Amino acid sequence: MASLVRFLSLAASVAVSSAVTIAEINGNKFLSPYNGQTVSNVTGIVTAKGPDGIWIRSTKPDRDARTSESIYVFGSKFASTNNLTVGDAISIGGKISEYRSSKDYVYLTELASPVLEERLSSGNAAKPLVVGKDTSNPPTQQFSSLDSGFVFAVPNNVSLISVANPVLDPKNYGMDFWESLSGELVTVRKPTAVNKPNNFGDTWVIGDWKVTGRNGRDGLTQVDKDANPETIIIGSPLDGSKNPATTKLGDDLEDITGVVTQAFGFYRILPTTAIKVKKSEKPALPSATKLKSDGKCGGITFGAYNVENLSPTSSHLPAVAEQIVDYLRSPDVIFLQEVQDNNGETNDAVVTANLTLTMLASAIVAAGGPQYAFTEVDPVDDKDGGAPGGNIRVAYFYRPSLVRLYKPNPGGSLDANEVLPGPTLKYNPGRIDPTNEAWTASRKPLVAQWEVLGKKGKPEGTFYTVNVHFGSKGGSSSIQGDARPPVNGGVEDRQAQAELTANFVKDILTQDKNAHVITAGDYNEFIAVAPLTSYVSISGLNDLDAVVGIKPVERYTYLFDMQAQQLDHMFISDSLKKGAKYEHVHISTWVDRASQISDHDPSVAKLDVCS
Ligand SMILES: *[C@@H]1O[C@H](CO)[C@@H](O)[C@H](O)[C@H]1NC(C)=O
Ligand SMILES: *[C@@H]1O[C@H](CO)[C@@H](O)[C@H](O)[C@H]1NC(C)=O
Ligand SMILES: *[C@@H]1O[C@H](CO)[C@@H](O)[C@H](O)[C@H]1NC(C)=O
Ligand SMILES: *[C@@H]1O[C@H](CO)[C@@H](O)[C@H](O)[C@H]1NC(C)=O
Repeated sequence: MASLVRFLSLAASVAVSSAVTIAEINGNKFLSPYNGQTVSNVTGIVTAKGPDGIWIRSTKPDRDARTSESIYVFGSKFASTNNLTVGDAISIGGKISEYRSSKDYVYLTELASPVLEERLSSGNAAKPLVVGKDTSNPPTQQFSSLDSGFVFAVPNNVSLISVANPVLDPKNYGMDFWESLSGELVTVRKPTAVNKPNNFGDTWVIGDWKVTGRNGRDGLTQVDKDANPETIIIGSPLDGSKNPATTKLGDDLEDITGVVTQAFGFYRILPTTAIKVKKSEKPALPSATKLKSDGKCGGITFGAYNVENLSPTSSHLPAVAEQIVDYLRSPDVIFLQEVQDNNGETNDAVVTANLTLTMLASAIVAAGGPQYAFTEVDPVDDKDGGAPGGNIRVAYFYRPSLVRLYKPNPGGSLDANEVLPGPTLKYNPGRIDPTNEAWTASRKPLVAQWEVLGKKGKPEGTFYTVNVHFGSKGGSSSIQGDARPPVNGGVEDRQAQAELTANFVKDILTQDKNAHVITAGDYNEFIAVAPLTSYVSISGLNDLDAVVGIKPVERYTYLFDMQAQQLDHMFISDSLKKGAKYEHVHISTWVDRASQISDHDPSVAKLDVCS
């Protein structure tokens, strides 16, 4: 039976079509109409050679911008066996196949098992197409017609490109644009790096075409519904050279020529040789925040910083301390995220983090900063996600000479905080609904109530804080992957987390609409996406970026794939809006990978909390 099935499928695959053009093979959709079929007499000029195959461009182009005129010919010995070189015009046969290394990726159309039928001529021109000049401009807003108009729309994964196989619309959708150039030799003129390279040296770039969302550092920020489809990642060079590891956000690069392909979940250009940096943005680091504490309730400063898996033995601990002093100007209150327990990622029963926090406090003093006090609530061992054994949690640093907890009464790991008449808190500090399943493998927000000490030690202003680190985006699919809209990993959890946290804040503001409430931290989500739109509408809080009018393109704290994006936010209640100030300090996003202390940028706010 098995051999009969094999015989039948073999019979199907040898249905020979003759004299097809490359445009006909590619077709005007994502998948080839010839997938699985054997073809012959496919003519093209060799435009590039790679370690496992060659790229050929049709000698019989059509006039349809949707049908790529080039194709990848997969066969590692094909070029050497047949002594093929760039510029050779050849006629070949083989089997059309759609290849992907993961079911979550988009397929690459290729001609496999190639056979040379005829060598037609050599020395032909293999001129690259200049992107945006010989092609239309890459679309700047949408990735795919299947995204319901928003690449982060919920629900996710409503359809699959490999199933829907839409007709390409290269003028409107970024994925369609790059698919319509699959296999093509192209040049990107005046490229700019829009992220640091990944561990393989792959680097996201834009060319000299029209872009939207450009920030002051020359990267592209994700703004509203625009997640930057006009970008392309530059992969491994065809000549075996290595892309530099030190490229930075906004670096100007030499022109890049290479072939367009699809691999590891992204359209990419494999350059003929390694990327070269021409010029870097200056200065290398941003200046310190301009926001300095007034030392009284009319001008209290609040820092927020994801310190990336900080443990007592972290080599970056002294550098974090220096950043807090030199770049954040030692805010009066700091919302920290990703503080690990006293023995870091040693996976044992230790969960307390007082050594980690004491060491950070001492390092801040050593760096010329003030003596901070800290407060936090330990998680239950291994229950809050993050690196195994690390027991990351959120924690507050505060200047005890200026602010103190109002009637401190710390809750335990499993104690659910409540808003009592006052409003005051049942636990100070205490975690929000820690046993709720919404927090499975995630950090519980830490709520605290504070007072500011006036001249004679008399309390002068009060405020409430919620320090958050919502569930991660782990499990997300590629923004250029098969699932549309792509899977935004953990979005259902973050939705539930946002609702719980927002309802807690609402309880405070229902009792006292003038209460000073500040919530901050790593929300792991974008402001325009469902968990945070719910958060704002339920809580009644205001997005501080919008309150102070930071330009939308400058609202970023993180680099991911092709974009500068904002995962870290601060929200304030109405009574704090007047005179509010806020800055993102780009000490992490601007520097090269090796110089990066944390993967997030910190932010600083200055608020009037006098009551
Ligand atoms: C290939 O196609 C051309 C016309 O497109 C034709 O002249 C030639 O005979 C064909 N060769 C083979 C081997 O089929
Ligand atoms: C390989 O092709 C080149 C021209 O493309 C030619 O000069 C050379 O003689 C060929 N070598 C062999 C071994 O056929
Ligand atoms: C941490 O807390 C434990 C238990 O309260 C205490 O014994 C220890 O001395 C503390 N360590 C530091 C560095 O404060
Ligand atoms: C998307 O949904 C399909 C079922 O329609 C499923 O097979 C696939 O694994 C999902 N993709 C991701 C990335 O979760």
